[in-house]
Amino acid sequence: MSSSKINVAKQAIDYIKDKLHPEMILGIGTGSTVNFFIEELGAYKNLFAGAVSSSEASSNLLNEKGIEVFNLNDVIDIAYYIDGADEVSPNYDLIKGGGGAHTREKIVASASNEFVCIVDETKLVPQLGAFPLPVEVLPESRSLVARKIVSMGGTPIYRAGFITDQGNEILDIKDLDISNPEAIEALLNNIPGVVDNGIFAFNKPKKVLVSS
Ligand code: A5P
Repeated sequence: MSSSKINVAKQAIDYIKDKLHPEMILGIGTGSTVNFFIEELGAYKNLFAGAVSSSEASSNLLNEKGIEVFNLNDVIDIAYYIDGADEVSPNYDLIKGGGGAHTREKIVASASNEFVCIVDETKLVPQLGAFPLPVEVLPESRSLVARKIVSMGGTPIYRAGFITDQGNEILDIKDLDISNPEAIEALLNNIPGVVDNGIFAFNKPKKVLVSS
C-alpha cells in the first residue's frame, strides 16, 4: 500500500519538476499519499516560491521540509494543486474528505490552474458512493442536517470525536445514490448548516495519476 503511494507521489514529482520556476506557488492537499509527495518535494524547495496548504497537518509537514506556506489571501496564482482522493470515478469525479479536510481542499483546488490527483489503484471505482461521503457541518446544525440527509435516502454517521481545522463536525453518509455527482454535490451544499461535502464534481482534476 505505501509503496503504491510512494510510486504515485514520485510520478507527480516527475510531472511537475521541469515546470517549476522561482515564482511558482503550488497547492497542496492532505492525506497519506500527499505526505509522501511532500517528502519528495522537499528536494526541490529552492526551485519554486512555496505552497498554499489545505490543512494544518500538511502545513506542518511543508514547514518541516523548509517549504514556505502562504495564506490563500496573499496569493493570486496557484499553478498546480496536488492531492489524493478516497474514490475516483471513470470521468474523474471524486469523493474526498476521509481525513476531514475536504472543505479547504476544494477551495485550494478551485483556486488552482490544474488539479493533479494522485491515487493508488484501489481508489478507482465504477461509480462513487461505496466510500461514506464526508459532509462538514456547523456543530449546532448537525442533527438538522442529518435529518435532511435521511429524507434524501442517506444514512448519516457522526464522526465522533473529530473536529475539523475550521472547528466543525463531520457526518459520513452511507447509502446515498451518487449516480449524478454534480446534482448531489449541489443539493447537499444547499442544506443550511452544511459547510461543504466531499464530492468534487465541479472542481475535479484535469489529470489523475495512478500508481503503476
Ligand atoms: C483528506 O481529507 C482527504 O480528502 C484525502 O485527500 C483523501 O482521504 C486521500 O487520503 P489518502 O491519501 O490518505 O488515502
